[in-house]
Amino acid sequence: MLTYSKTLRRGVSFQLAALTTLLIASGLGCSGNSSDAPGGGGGSKGGSTGTSGAVNAPGGTSAGGALGGLTTTGGASTSAGASNSNGGAGTSGATSGGSPGASGSATTAGAGGSAGGVAGGAGGAGGAGGTGSTLNGPPMGWASWNSFASKIDLKLIKAQADAMVSSGLKAAGYQYVNIDEGWWQGARDASGNITVDTTTQWPGGMQAAADYIHSLGLKAGIYTDAGKAGCGFYYPTAGTPAEPNSGAEGHYDADFLQFEKWGFDFVKVDWCGGSAEGISAKTAYQGISDSIKKATTATGHTMVFSVCNWGGSNPWDWAPAMSTMWRTSGDIIYYGNTADITHVLSNFDTAQHPTAQSPGHYNDPDMLIVGMPNFTLAQNRTHFAMWAISGAPLLAGNKLDSMSADVKGVLTNSEVIAIDQDPLAKQGAKVSDTGGLQVYNKVLSGTGRRAVLLLNRSTSTAMLTVKFADLGLGASASVRDIWAASDLGMKMTSYAASVPSNDSLLLLVTDPAAAQ
Ligand code: GAL
Repeated sequence: MLTYSKTLRRGVSFQLAALTTLLIASGLGCSGNSSDAPGGGGGSKGGSTGTSGAVNAPGGTSAGGALGGLTTTGGASTSAGASNSNGGAGTSGATSGGSPGASGSATTAGAGGSAGGVAGGAGGAGGAGGTGSTLNGPPMGWASWNSFASKIDLKLIKAQADAMVSSGLKAAGYQYVNIDEGWWQGARDASGNITVDTTTQWPGGMQAAADYIHSLGLKAGIYTDAGKAGCGFYYPTAGTPAEPNSGAEGHYDADFLQFEKWGFDFVKVDWCGGSAEGISAKTAYQGISDSIKKATTATGHTMVFSVCNWGGSNPWDWAPAMSTMWRTSGDIIYYGNTADITHVLSNFDTAQHPTAQSPGHYNDPDMLIVGMPNFTLAQNRTHFAMWAISGAPLLAGNKLDSMSADVKGVLTNSEVIAIDQDPLAKQGAKVSDTGGLQVYNKVLSGTGRRAVLLLNRSTSTAMLTVKFADLGLGASASVRDIWAASDLGMKMTSYAASVPSNDSLLLLVTDPAAAQ
């Protein structure tokens, strides 16, 4: 099978990295040995989804509430739903949905309150969860890698966690603060326990980091590798030495138990060591999933399991049975490079595995690069809209403590987030493509509700048309421009709009008379 070579993985050459994406997209990248062959996926929803009973409480709770803004066809209640997501109107969720639950956080109540219409019942129920969680769909949070690579420590993580709260991202539904590569140099004590630098990098150890994140009402994520050595050994980033032995192989039971004992709620497991050793991804990740389950039995604590083998060995065929999310491609940005929409588009394309996705199990096109240097507002919106129409995990990767109002506005847009978090967890599908003028359709919960992305990948401004029949809707439907927060009224048969090159339009199209 293809193993990522140093240059391919780190993208020292952009063209080589793009070639890798192409190979994977075309199915040429991973021939798969017999043990990696597709099969055995699907089905299981147990185990590693989510982090607590409250977060995973059945019913779509707060997500349903946030959807209220999108549910109605009337302009007034639609915009009321959108603007209530910060908690102001919690009682309206309670009124329309019954008891909001005494332990609901302000944020949860607010999301419930945003239910202006059909989804009100589910919104009100959201309060019952009540552990500071908000939404119930694909994981939302922030991860350290895209902006900080392996130069991370407690001070930096605290600052980003603080900013997640003060910026309003937490109120918008972001929960996870994920510590990616660089936290550990691979040292163990005589008993095999992980040891970290508690003098300067992690005063108080990793538990102190998790405790701090929890003290803000957030959830904590950590990172390791399925192989013996991690990515920091094979591809050290500037300023950090090669880190041998920073993988979990040989210590799966002990390490995942340790992560849970420290209090971590999410673990991303990378594949640099596994790839270098040529072991079977499906077998290795199954072993890890089993170890996480054992740890959960021992501690009573759950961890979201994020598989990160870059789409090799077709994880969409087996990872849904063992994890919450699985990467479908290489990195959206390589260390040392600047943000590039080409990578965003190719990661979006290679993530298209709609049948693999279901509530609690998501294709992962990678962490976001919304708000990173070089991206325009239009690019940020298009990137975020593509992840939302995909129902993808939303893990911000920008510097939260210094983002602009525009970037904050993109990341916290409650209507776009509601599309992403829709309880049906459908991945939007391409319904037409004329010379790069593409239309994507995501079926939303409720009746006759579709999120539609008009994406212009041609080199010039063009008219893009969505035909309602392509969405499975009837002859007339109401159309809302999501980013403009503007109701465009009832349209007959189709809707057409001019979209600049490399730009997009995100719409909510509603036909209450539709069958679904
Ligand atoms: C890659 C992974 C990235 C990041 C990086 C750390 O393999 O895809 O998301 O975790 O390793 O080295």
